[in-house]
Amino acid sequence: MPARRDLLRFMAAGGLLAQVPLRVHADVWQDSFAQAVQRDPWLRGFRSVQRETYDSQATVAGRWPAGLAGTLFRNGPARHEIGNFRYHHWFDGDGMVHAWRLGPAGVRHQGRLVQTRKLLAERAAGRALYPGFGTLPPDPAPVTSADDVNVANISVLPHHGKLLALWEAGSPWEIDADSLATKGLYAFNDDMAGVPFSAHPRVEPDGTLWNFGYVSDGGFIVLWHIDRNGQVVKAGKVDVRPMTFPHDFLVTSRHIVLLLPPLDYTGGRAADFLDAHEWHPDRPTRVMVVDKNDFSRVQWLELPAQWVFHFGNAWEDNQGVIHFDGARAPEPSSMLNAFRAVMRGERGDTATFVHHHYQVDTRKGTVAETPMFDRGFQSEFPVIDPRVSTLRNERLVFLCTDDAHRVVHPLLNGVAVFSHAKDHLQTFWYGDNVIPEEHLFVPAPGSRPESDGWVVGTAYDAVADQTRLNVFDVRGIGDGPVATATLDYGLPLGLHGKFSGA
Ligand SMILES: [Fe+2]
Repeated sequence: MPARRDLLRFMAAGGLLAQVPLRVHADVWQDSFAQAVQRDPWLRGFRSVQRETYDSQATVAGRWPAGLAGTLFRNGPARHEIGNFRYHHWFDGDGMVHAWRLGPAGVRHQGRLVQTRKLLAERAAGRALYPGFGTLPPDPAPVTSADDVNVANISVLPHHGKLLALWEAGSPWEIDADSLATKGLYAFNDDMAGVPFSAHPRVEPDGTLWNFGYVSDGGFIVLWHIDRNGQVVKAGKVDVRPMTFPHDFLVTSRHIVLLLPPLDYTGGRAADFLDAHEWHPDRPTRVMVVDKNDFSRVQWLELPAQWVFHFGNAWEDNQGVIHFDGARAPEPSSMLNAFRAVMRGERGDTATFVHHHYQVDTRKGTVAETPMFDRGFQSEFPVIDPRVSTLRNERLVFLCTDDAHRVVHPLLNGVAVFSHAKDHLQTFWYGDNVIPEEHLFVPAPGSRPESDGWVVGTAYDAVADQTRLNVFDVRGIGDGPVATATLDYGLPLGLHGKFSGA
């Protein structure tokens, strides 16, 4: 295990965040957004949250499934403005953790802004203070560590009795699972305190957890192996210069897989983290395959330049072939352009995300990719039954949009269940002005993996200005929700969640 100081040496300058600002945007963003949201209701999903906390009962309609009980924890960017300043990227919003407590007696929603160092410091100062992912406020304060600007806004992880709110380039934040109060930065042990722990850990059915973190100025990726009790089994690092930033990764029974897109970290004097990167479409995406038992054993392969935020699952057959799937775009314009533009109330440029199946032959040293659907059918937020994570999965659940179901907003507008074995796709399309967020597969208690269960996900109705939780039978998603739970308010569009059974 590398000494903590080894990892922190490269992070000491802030890694992600120690750029010296050269330019400051004239901040007309708040005015521009305020005008645009009057014209286009769907933009309400990107308004800044007006409350620190929520706690209310939702209105349930339909027939609530008898076995569906537990908590859907979610996270996402929520506070997008402070004072007269609006952030310049969706991913800069300060995180709000939500708990949707589900059961036959009703549905309760709680939400609470994570009380990060940054939130508290900015509240005390009465203004935006720090450079972020895609934002540079006027007169930014110096950043001494990544956790100074850790906004805890991407996902949540219930694990070993803890609830952790996850960012990408810093520590988890521990959250009280009942009250959603922030307990503080979380360290798995003293040696690993402050080492980046990304927002998409992979958890095997027995609770074994794997994750990565990236250290931009150090030029390396950290790998984590944690047991079901939250003890660090081992950690390591892999040098990956030129550095980039992967968002998600994959784990099989034997290997860890990361795709490293040619979005190179240039470091130096840039305005914000995104502007410290350059896209090189002429260069390959590197595929890094690491032995789970020995992090020093790394195999390198290459795919064409591409951008994948999210993968569904990976598994490995007994011929040493790794199979995985992901929502593949040819380039990262959605992140570089569209998720900035939306903060000004504009539609930016975005590439098409088409779900792909990948095969890595670890013995022959080859990799191949194949589109799973027609180009007009787009996917994102792929998930599986968590009981087959890292094992062969039959089903895939994801959000979608396609050319035949265009709506008034440019975001995803459907949810789909795909069966690999049957090559069968079922979809449900939300209407105009309804924007679904990530939907999860929630197994029915006592059922066999990938048999009975529900697809559970939230959606924002921009005209009614209400957020609604939708429950589908996984076998008949095309029939629409069997039950819904509607809040009398709308929530800012969020990112990821996890379901924790009763
Ligand atoms: Fe993500």
